Amino acid sequence: MSDVLILAIESSCDETAAAVVKNGREVLSNVIYTQIALHTQFGGVVPEIASRKHIEKINQVIEKALEEANVTLKDITAIAVTYGPGLVGALLVGVSEAKAISFATGLPLVGVHHIEGHISANYIENKDLEPPFVCLVASGGHSHLVVVKDYGKYEIIGRTRDDAAGEAFDKVARAIGLGYPGGPKIDKISKEGNPDAIAFPRAKMADNEYDFSFSGVKSAVLNYLNSCQMKGEEVNRADVAASFQKAVIDVLVDHSIHAVKSFGYDKFAIAGGVASNSSLREAFEKRCEKEGIKFYHPSPIYCTDNAAMIGAAGYYDYVNGIRSGMDLNAVPNLRLGER
Ligand code: KG4
Ligand code: ZN
Repeated sequence: MSDVLILAIESSCDETAAAVVKNGREVLSNVIYTQIALHTQFGGVVPEIASRKHIEKINQVIEKALEEANVTLKDITAIAVTYGPGLVGALLVGVSEAKAISFATGLPLVGVHHIEGHISANYIENKDLEPPFVCLVASGGHSHLVVVKDYGKYEIIGRTRDDAAGEAFDKVARAIGLGYPGGPKIDKISKEGNPDAIAFPRAKMADNEYDFSFSGVKSAVLNYLNSCQMKGEEVNRADVAASFQKAVIDVLVDHSIHAVKSFGYDKFAIAGGVASNSSLREAFEKRCEKEGIKFYHPSPIYCTDNAAMIGAAGYYDYVNGIRSGMDLNAVPNLRLGER
């Protein structure tokens, strides 16, 4: 079979991204224009501003991705684009752009699920990784435990009942005055703190041992900060950050490893923005080694939103015969495994 070159487009949140990916696993280019600086002043992503910035940047980002890969549209096999889940106005920019390119060139169009992209980021640097395996997807919008049964075949076995893990990082960071996005800032300041300084709760769900809940730990941090303020006590931000981070990581690790063992798999992967957390990686590395589980993780640049991961997922969708029509629409609450 000749090489399959996917031009991938991602615009579901606050990154405008395009990439060229060869045969699902070789990244020829990965261009990301991040809007983080633009949203920081508002303390979070402003959907309207995100859409407007995507419109402004998308053509440049795609041109750069083709240029850096040293290809033209004539070399491309298919266009892959994130069509959900995400912010509807943001998704529509990528979807409309992909449809326009597909219409103008006649290239096949493949709509990709954003979470499927995050999971597939693991294929890029782990050439030996093949399904089946268990994957923890922890990002700003999602915390899912997924059994990857085959390429494009997923079973969600656990999910968050309230806040996503990344959302909890962002909210706690805001509360202790670290700003947006909270994850990387909590990751950094935690290195100077004591993770056992404050006992924050670790939630367990009685009816599904693989589900998560992070609103309790977030509220416990807020209550702790309030009570310090009332008593006039000074807050040690590094200790709060480290203790909160440890509470979240303990739950993510325990639930994930329990799932891998109970379902009888020997491979485990992590994905999504929170997967770039350095303490989380260390914790999983240690635990997986102890349990004899092979541990996979993408480099940080492929954990947070990017288009290379959409190219990896889009490749497997493409070779499985999945095609989208000119009626492809943005689906803000698209479920994993649904089309
Ligand atoms: O996957 P992503 O880029 O976007 C979504 O699909 O949501 O994830 C962004 C989330 C944010 O909540 C951010 O705070 C979190 O990932 N994040 C981190 C780290 N880097 C990003 N959380 C913890 N530690 C990090 N190093
Ligand atoms: Zn994402």
